[in-house]
This record gives sequence, structure tokens and C-alpha cells, in this order.
Amino acid sequence: MSLLLSILFSFLAFCTSAVFGLFPERQPLFPWEQNHLTEETLATLIKQTNTQEFAQLFAFEDKKSSNPNKLKAGACKVFPGDPDWPSQSSWDAFNKILGNNALIKTIPLAAPCYQNTGLYDPEKCAKIASNYSNPYLHENDPTSTFWPLYQARTCLPTSNPSSSNCTHGGYPLYAVNISSVQQIQLTINFARNNNLRLVIKNTGHDYLGKSSGAGSLSIWTHNLNDISFFPSLNIPGYSGGPALKIAPGATVRQVYEAADKYNGSVLGGICESVGYAGGYVAGGGHTPLSGLYGMAADHVLGLEMVTAGGKYVSVSSTQNKDLFYALRGGGGGVFGVVTSIIVRVHPRLGVVTSVFEFGTSETVSAERFWEGMRAFFESFIPFTDAGTYSWWRLINAGNGQYQFSMEPFFAPNHTIESFNKLISPWFNRLKELGIEFKANTTLHDAYLPAWQSTWGSDVGLNSAGGVFVPANWLLPRRNWENLTLFNETFSHLRRHVEAGKLLFGYHQAPRNRAAVDNAVNPAFREVICFLIVAGSSPQNPTVEEVRRASKELREEILRPLKEIAPVSGGGGAYLNEANVDNEEWREDFYGGMKRYEKLLKIKKRWDKEGVFYATTGIGSEEWEVRDGGIAGVKSQAGRLCRV
Ligand SMILES: Cc1cc2nc3c(=O)[nH]c(=O)nc-3n(C[C@H](O)[C@H](O)[C@H](O)COP(=O)(O)OP(=O)(O)OC[C@H]3O[C@@H](n4cnc5c(N)ncnc54)[C@H](O)[C@@H]3O)c2cc1C
Ligand SMILES: *[C@@H]1O[C@H](CO)[C@@H](O)[C@H](O)[C@H]1NC(C)=O
Ligand SMILES: *[C@@H]1O[C@H](CO)[C@@H](O)[C@H](O)[C@H]1NC(C)=O
Ligand SMILES: *[C@@H]1O[C@H](CO)[C@@H](O)[C@H](O)[C@H]1NC(C)=O
Ligand SMILES: *[C@@H]1O[C@H](CO)[C@@H](O)[C@H](O)[C@H]1NC(C)=O
Ligand SMILES: *[C@@H]1O[C@H](CO)[C@@H](O)[C@H](O)[C@H]1NC(C)=O
Ligand SMILES: *[C@@H]1O[C@H](CO)[C@@H](O)[C@H](O)[C@H]1NC(C)=O
Ligand SMILES: *[C@@H]1O[C@H](CO)[C@@H](O)[C@H](O)[C@H]1NC(C)=O
Ligand SMILES: *[C@@H]1O[C@H](CO)[C@@H](O)[C@H](O)[C@H]1NC(C)=O
Repeated sequence: MSLLLSILFSFLAFCTSAVFGLFPERQPLFPWEQNHLTEETLATLIKQTNTQEFAQLFAFEDKKSSNPNKLKAGACKVFPGDPDWPSQSSWDAFNKILGNNALIKTIPLAAPCYQNTGLYDPEKCAKIASNYSNPYLHENDPTSTFWPLYQARTCLPTSNPSSSNCTHGGYPLYAVNISSVQQIQLTINFARNNNLRLVIKNTGHDYLGKSSGAGSLSIWTHNLNDISFFPSLNIPGYSGGPALKIAPGATVRQVYEAADKYNGSVLGGICESVGYAGGYVAGGGHTPLSGLYGMAADHVLGLEMVTAGGKYVSVSSTQNKDLFYALRGGGGGVFGVVTSIIVRVHPRLGVVTSVFEFGTSETVSAERFWEGMRAFFESFIPFTDAGTYSWWRLINAGNGQYQFSMEPFFAPNHTIESFNKLISPWFNRLKELGIEFKANTTLHDAYLPAWQSTWGSDVGLNSAGGVFVPANWLLPRRNWENLTLFNETFSHLRRHVEAGKLLFGYHQAPRNRAAVDNAVNPAFREVICFLIVAGSSPQNPTVEEVRRASKELREEILRPLKEIAPVSGGGGAYLNEANVDNEEWREDFYGGMKRYEKLLKIKKRWDKEGVFYATTGIGSEEWEVRDGGIAGVKSQAGRLCRV
């Protein structure tokens, strides 16, 4: 270690103990986490900002008797135009107490493309349109998301400014540009006391529309993006190892770069722009390092969060243990607002990546191609036993032509020799079949460069603005161990691709290597093959086409997969990348009703009134979004009401 580094390390170690001195019950805090709101500090703040008249709008739960009507069947969150909608002076007082002019009256991202907004500006519009697939365009916007489908596509970029009117659809009406824990507490109190729909948007990556909501107030955490390193952290359950503390807005790329800078690696996903400590870890987080360590959520050591009651709490193996269970795999947006997490940093290790593709040709018949695919699938047991992971696509190119691309095979802690030994049974079989190709196999000395040269350089992987209807299914190892079932599984996948349906996948096995008890879907502990599927729809589908694609996805694509790998047989779905219209979401996303009920109890303990709602999230069966079916899938473009 260089002198400079060691000085930095001891300085950080000093900070850690200093923070411990101040907050013996807490893990180390970021500066903006330190001044939080209590009854006392709230009273002072109200005085300082001269908002006494509105004091009850910011009060903590126990001060104000809650409105029993809120809990009745059919009761809705307030909506603009309702008599209970906060007055302009309430919003102004809210902005005043937040400080920093943090309250944003939101404007849809593509408003400059429309005449009706009064903001028409063809030049700005062209810029937005040409950049619409750039994920950071949406991340940097207070309300825009990756999947406009769930917002009901009411303000997409267009070159025809008067063909339709741009409206908010599922976009929140107000967003708070969060820069402190105190602002999160105030926003939750304000939403709860006014019976407002509350949304949490971090990056807006969510596949199901969880970071949108019509008529809502949004907590926008994107600008909380600190990362700090602890060379040797002592907190309950962890003694003296390296760790990173991460705020929700920090992206997977930023977290990888931080870990690498400190000569370590951290468990993250493949897409660089995802918010690490937001939805990713909350949903479990699968990772190219899962073959060595399990799920990202398995390595979370502690979290800080704000509850539905507006209280700031620490969550760890010794504090608020029920939340510690739920926040690691039970899904984002329903238990509280996470302000930071602490994760274990693993040692630096070498990684072998291999990228290759092949397909049918004059010399490779479809029959031979499928023989080669069978040999690939047959290898999943040795591949996962060797701790590896892969991302691949199986493409029907039409006219009986097929293409396979491996993008990449990812073998952490392997050498070129051990990788070759692992892969050669399959490659030899391909050779026998006359399938020739050249694999680009590279040894990288650490995780970051291995990721950077593969997923980290693939912009297409991150592209936003998608309007197709996706889903996933986790196939368990037992479908491989029983050869009859393996044959059925493989034949099914072959028929699926032959019928022209999309099939992307991973081989991966994030077993419970750290032996933790958390809410990660148990299907992940058994999975050997993770499939991404989608309903087929044209480029710019009509609502009817979206509806048809969603129905096809449910009935013709997911149903047979569920028959082959039911939840009772170790199958399931990853809640972060799932089909929003799946009616069995409770069983499929959470590992059966028993586990679901356990999470529901925790949800009720911390959020009786339903301050937090996310579609297909824990407790969401008690609510419906009245969108009138305008999107073709379950969208967020409507009033939120109790069923
Ligand atoms: C291109 C692409 C690639 C992906 N690759 C992977 C992968 O390799 N592995 C993997 O596991 N997943 C992957 N995902 C899925 C990703 O993990 C989820 O979409 C995740 O929910 C994104 O979280 P976010 O905070 O970035 O997004 P957001 O849409 O902002 O939030 C997602 C959910 O989390 C909630 N949330 C966000 N921040 C907080 C907070 N601070 N406190 C409480 N709740 C919060 C939101 O309310 C919402 O419900 C990928 C997604 C995409 C689009
Ligand atoms: C697209 O948006 C990103 C993020 O806002 C920005 O960095 C980039 O410069 C934009 N590109 C164009 C061509 O406008
Ligand atoms: C847009 O809204 C205006 C005012 O409500 C309405 O008159 C007009 O017909 C709408 N335009 C379209 C294309 O829907
Ligand atoms: C949000 O706040 C940050 C400072 O915390 C500021 O830099 C940024 O410009 C603000 N963004 C918006 C859209 O108001
Ligand atoms: C980085 O980590 C590796 C693996 O733990 C170790 O061998 C190496 O000495 C470390 N390098 C530095 C500069 O600390
Ligand atoms: C990596 O491989 C080495 C030697 O092959 C082994 O000792 C070590 O435990 C492995 N690391 C992990 C995290 O599996
Ligand atoms: C092979 O992959 C490495 C990185 O993984 C890359 O640097 C190199 O350019 C690739 N070579 C070819 C021929 O594509
Ligand atoms: C599985 O399929 C293969 C290839 O078609 C066949 O040789 C084998 O007998 C089948 N096994 C079982 C148990 O059905
Ligand atoms: C293997 O799978 C087949 C088909 O699902 C099933 O009928 C059979 O009982 C299974 N065998 C064992 C030993 O589980």
C-alpha cells in the first residue's frame, strides 16, 4: 500500500470511529444523513421557516389522528381536483420547509415536442428524440422512466406537435429533488397527512412501472449518490473487513469503479446505469459474481431508511431485524425509503471472459445447430458448479435460420486453462457437428476491466424507451437432473424459438453461499437458467397490440414455462424484471404464499395505512390503479384506490 493510501485509510478509519462516538447505535452516516428530523428538530424547523400555520401537514404520525376513511374499501388517494387536494399555499409552505427550492412541479420530458404544453421548441424536441434511448436522459429527469408503456405513452417525443396533447399520464405531478434525509422525512409526512399518492423514483429503470404514479408526489433520490469506503469496518455481523457505503442514486458503474479503486470487487448487475442501492439490491440483485458469492442482497450488512411514519431508522442484523429481512430481496418502494446501504467488498480476482457466436449456414443445418444448443444446455450443471455465469441470445432469423451469441461467458476466479477445460466438452461437440467459430477468450486481472470490456461497453444493453412487454422465468437445477424433464425443458425452448419468440438468457446459480436469511425469492437458490422472454409486438404498438402481446406472454409463453418449472418445483420469477400482468405475482415473485404472508406482516407492521405502494409490491393486492385500460398493460396512469 502506498503511503498516501495508508494515510487515507487511517483517516477514514478515524472518521468511522468518530461517527460511532456520536451515534453509538448507528452505522457510519453520510453528512446529509446526520441531521434528521425528530419532534424537536421539526418544531425548530417550522419556527425557522415560519410555517406554523401548516405545522400539522408536516407532523409525525402519532401527533395527528389518522383518518379512518382512508382504510375503507374503495377509498382513493387524493387526486387533483378533489376538495382535499392540497392548496397552493400548502405546496408553497412545503417547498419552504424543504429548503433548496427542492419541490419541482413536474413537466414531462418530451413537453417541448408538443404545442399544447406552451413549451413547444422543435430544436429541444429533436435533441430529446435523438437521445431517447440514452438511459441517463431519463435518470437526470425527475419523472421520466425507461419504459413509457407504464406511463401510458402520453408524452413521447414526436415530430408532429399537434397530433396529440402531451399530458402527465402516469408521471408524478410533484417531485422532491432530495438532498437530505430530513427532506425525505418531510415528504413522507406531507404525503401521509394529505393522503397523497407517494412514489419513489431513483433511476426509473423499473420494468413494471413502480417508479411512476398518476397524481402523485415523488421522492426523487437520483442526486443522493455518495459512495464511501471503509477499509476495515466493525459493525454487528462484520468485524474488520472492507466495505462500501452507498447512497441510492449511485449507479452500478460508479459502485464498480469505487470497489476497483480500493482493490476489491462488489456484487452488481450487468447494466451500468441501474441504481445500486435502490431497486437493484431491494429486489435481490443477480450478478456475474453470483457463482462465487450468491445474490447482491446477501452481502448487505446494514441500511438506513425512513419509515412510513417519517422516522429515520437503522436496519441491520441487530436493529429492526424484520426490515433487514424484507429490504434484502422483498422489493423496492414498499417498506420505506432507503437512504444508504453498507455492502461487503470482496477481494480482487481474475476473470476470464469469452465472447463468440455461431449459427446455421450452408454447412450447418438447423438440426445440427439444435444439437449444438442441446450440448450447451446440457453443460449448465458443470458451468454453474464451476462458479460461472453467462448472458446469451438465441435468435430465430427467419427461413429456418438460427443464430446464437454468447455476450459473454463470464468465469470469475478462472484461468484460461481452467476455463478451456470447463468449456471444451461443449466446444468439442460443436466441432464434431461442424460448427466452426472463433471465440475471443480473455483473462482480465480484475472484475472491473472484465465487466468494462463486455457489458460495460454495450450501450444497447442499457437502452431506454422500450415499449415491449417483458417477463422472465427461473428454471431450477432439478429440471436438469431429471433427464426426462430436461428433455421436455429443452424441447419446449426449441419450439419456443422455432415459433419466432424472443429468448435471451443467463446460466447462473446464485445459491445461498453466505448462508443468510433474507427475502430473496428461493427460486434463485435453485436456478440454473434464467430466461428473459417477451410478447411479440411491432415497433410502435397500438394499445390493442400491447394488450395482445401481454396476453400472448401470459398464456402462450409464461404458462408453459410455469408448467415445466412450477413454483412448487423450484421455479419462479425475478420481481425486478417480471411481467406486471402476471396474476400469480405473489407466489411467483416471492416464493409462494407462505413467504409472501411473512413479508405482508412486516409491511403492515411498518406501513398500516399504505403510505407506500408499488405495483406487484408487497401489500399491493389491496389497491388498484384505475387507468381505464388505456395502456394495454397494467399501467400507473390512473387514480390509486383501495379495491
Ligand atoms: C437494462 C437493464 C439491465 C438490468 N440488469 C440487471 C442485472 O444484471 N441484475 C439485476 O438484478 N437487475 C437488473 N436490472 C433490473 C434492475 O435491478 C431493476 O430495474 C431495479 O429495480 C432498478 O432499480 P433503480 O433504483 O435503478 O430503479 P427505479 O425504477 O428508480 O426503482 C425501482 C424500484 O425500487 C424502488 N426504489 C428506488 N430507490 C429506492 C429507495 N431509495 N428506497 C426504497 N425504494 C426505492 C422504486 O420505488 C421502485 O419500486 C436491469 C434493468 C435494466 C433496465
Ligand atoms: C443525451 O443525454 C445524456 C444524459 O442527459 C447526455 O450526457 C448526452 O450529452 C445527450 N446526448 C445528446 C446527443 O444530446
Ligand atoms: C388537445 O386538447 C385541446 C383542449 O382540451 C382539445 O381541444 C384538442 O382537441 C386536443 N387535441 C388532440 C389532438 O387531442
Ligand atoms: C437537484 O438538486 C441538485 C443539488 O442537490 C442540483 O444540483 C440539481 O440541479 C437539482 N435538479 C433539479 C432538476 O432541480
Ligand atoms: C489487491 O488484492 C489482491 C487480492 O486480495 C492482493 O493480492 C494484492 O496484494 C492487493 N494489492 C494492493 C495494492 O493492495
Ligand atoms: C479462487 O480460487 C482459489 C484457488 O483456486 C481458491 O482458493 C479461492 O477460494 C477461490 N475464491 C473464491 C471466492 O471462490
Ligand atoms: C477480444 O476481447 C478483448 C476484451 O475482452 C478486446 O479487448 C479485444 O479487442 C477483442 N478482440 C477481438 C479480435 O475482437
Ligand atoms: C432425452 O433425449 C435424448 C435425445 O433426444 C435421448 O437420446 C434420450 O434417450 C432422452 N432421455 C430421456 C430420459 O428421455
Ligand atoms: C422426472 O420428470 C418426469 C416428467 O416430469 C416425471 O414424470 C418423473 O416422475 C420425474 N422423475 C423423478 C425421479 O423425479
